[in-house]
Amino acid sequence: MSYAIRAEGLVKRYGDMVALDGVDLEVPAGRVIGVLGPNGAGKTTTVRILSTLLRPDGGRAMVGGHDVVRDPVRVRQLIGLTGQYASVDEALSGTENLVLLGRLLDLSKRGAQARAAQLLEQFSLTEAANRPISTFSGGMRRRLDLAASLVGRPQVLYLDEPTTGLDPHARGEVWDVVRRLVDDGSTVLLTTQYLEEADQLADSITVFDHGRVVAEGRPGELKRRIGGQVLHVRPSLTRDVPRVTAMLTELTGTAPAQDGAHGVLTVPADDPLLVSALARRLAADGIGTDEMGLRLPSLDEVFLALTGRPATDGEQIDGEKGDGKKGDGKKGDGTQIDREQSDRTQNDDVNSERSAA
Ligand SMILES: Nc1ncnc2c1ncn2[C@@H]1O[C@H](COP(=O)(O)OP(=O)(O)OP(=O)(O)O)[C@@H](O)[C@H]1O
Ligand SMILES: [Mg+2]
Repeated sequence: MSYAIRAEGLVKRYGDMVALDGVDLEVPAGRVIGVLGPNGAGKTTTVRILSTLLRPDGGRAMVGGHDVVRDPVRVRQLIGLTGQYASVDEALSGTENLVLLGRLLDLSKRGAQARAAQLLEQFSLTEAANRPISTFSGGMRRRLDLAASLVGRPQVLYLDEPTTGLDPHARGEVWDVVRRLVDDGSTVLLTTQYLEEADQLADSITVFDHGRVVAEGRPGELKRRIGGQVLHVRPSLTRDVPRVTAMLTELTGTAPAQDGAHGVLTVPADDPLLVSALARRLAADGIGTDEMGLRLPSLDEVFLALTGRPATDGEQIDGEKGDGKKGDGKKGDGTQIDREQSDRTQNDDVNSERSAA
């Protein structure tokens, strides 16, 4: 099999802090890998090493067969990067940004203009092409970021949290763009804190926690790995929730989890007869349900089982990045995300990611 990305034992330290603690990654050409993990897990550090912006302290990484440390120039010719923090110039228009990047990549003036027009069309930005980026919505900006990383027709594309901070509609738009890229044969490494995103887009998922790979596999494999299925049931009447909880505890020996907002009870279901046993008990007691069935566990449940904590617990763990980050990006679905870094780090990211684009 030909691998677009191969990393072995990557280590990165910041002083005493070990950001990457021996990371291995293998991405076959033409596939999408989702790198999933909470804040501070090491996702961006990995992307920066694989895009030659950061030197590892140990291990090695090859992209398109070229060593990222020994042959960074060759690697840069193959890659595109959409960084975690926007890398386009606010004061310039969409067209101007893309033409500028094309010129930096040695396209002729006419070639750069043609490529810009083509990308703006592909990303449904033609109408806004001549407006400054500062007037773009979050979703348009992210699409322009993606377009910017594609000017040089990269074989390998890194997307670092491409949809963080976007509303569900804008997120869906970015997903469509990523799917089209993959149809065209690009290899994509996508980092995300959204389990659903990895589930939707990735052929395989690597889960990071504290600078290590804690699990990998296809989404379905990861879900199966934590065992069996999950029974979910929602009593029609809220007042029946305690009785159904007691029934489930008695039948499975485990107290069910309750989704407070919707009154849905879930419990691991290893016994295939559990659903019918529960149905009989409910019927005998005259309890109606709006929903009942078996499903594979969600990736959130997988993450919790693998790491002992939720994937999107938002708050910094052990004061990581103790530089004024705060959970300011409350999403409609209740997950907390962190968008802020110190200005120093952010500027550093922006400048260096621009130069690699
Ligand atoms: N320039 C730096 N100096 C010191 N520590 C750093 C630096 N960059 C990253 N770190 C630390 O390395 C660890 C990994 O950070 P990284 O940015 O790779 O995480 P991440 O998984 O991308 O997190 P997020 O979801 O918040 O983007 C964190 O604990 C972070 O504080
Ligand atoms: Mg990051």
